[in-house]
Amino acid sequence: MNKIIVSLLLCLGLIGAVQAAGDPAAGQAKTIVCGACHGVDGNSPVANFPKLAGQGERYLLKQMQDIKAGARPVVEMTGMLDPLSDQDMADIAAYYAAQKTIVGAADPKLVERGEDLFRGGKLAEGMPACIGCHSPDGSGIATAGYPHLGGQHADYTAKQLTAFREGERSNDGDSMIMRDIAAKLSNKDIEALSAYIQGLH
Ligand code: HEC
Ligand code: HEC
Repeated sequence: MNKIIVSLLLCLGLIGAVQAAGDPAAGQAKTIVCGACHGVDGNSPVANFPKLAGQGERYLLKQMQDIKAGARPVVEMTGMLDPLSDQDMADIAAYYAAQKTIVGAADPKLVERGEDLFRGGKLAEGMPACIGCHSPDGSGIATAGYPHLGGQHADYTAKQLTAFREGERSNDGDSMIMRDIAAKLSNKDIEALSAYIQGLH
């Protein structure tokens, strides 16, 4: 987008401050330290470390801002984002968003239950289906900041759903979207959903 148009839209409040345009090439150079845990192209090889490749730009930027500010505690990343400006983080977000997720495999024993929950929710308990916000193929809605889930490590996903349920992760806003949903999930539900999501694409 042309710089004048961007400033005009910013003045009009049509695009939020978080929409500072990221430059993927500049971002790549800023991810050297991140690669040790998240993989060189954002496809983390370790089940506890999230894949960032193919994740939505807006979601990535928000998480980095939240982690930096302490609104989402990530001990492994303590201090790491302190030297980065909002522009640096926007560049990094643009870089990871442009990479391709390497999808994992779903545990066949858990797929059916996982798929039922993901696509159908638990309507009797008032829990909406995941597809409404994360889409049927798990790609999320990037422009709305709804994260891409498909192909993510099951261990990481299970940890997040549990953390939302226990209130240990609380950066889902005042509407508490994910905390309310996770409150209705049993450990078995979380296991099945996470396994299904790992193979989803
Ligand atoms: C020592 C390992 C380590 C390093 C190095 C590291 N991270 Fe992380 N990062 C993690 C872990 C672990 C989590 C998830 C923590 C949790 O379970 O909530 C995470 C989470 C994230 C998330 C949130 C992902 C999501 O799906 O919500 C982003 C974005 C992120 N890191 C970006 C970065 C960037 C950018 C760098 C480099 C400047 C970096 N990380 C360096 C370990 C690391
Ligand atoms: C009404 C919309 C909505 C629905 C329905 C929804 N989510 Fe989410 N989900 C979100 C938003 C928004 C976030 C990001 C919160 C934030 O900014 O930290 C999120 C975050 C997540 C994350 C964290 C991703 C990461 O990389 O750390 C997981 C996992 C997740 N959702 C799983 C689910 C599952 C499983 C379901 C169905 C049981 C579901 N969501 C239903 C909106 C929704």
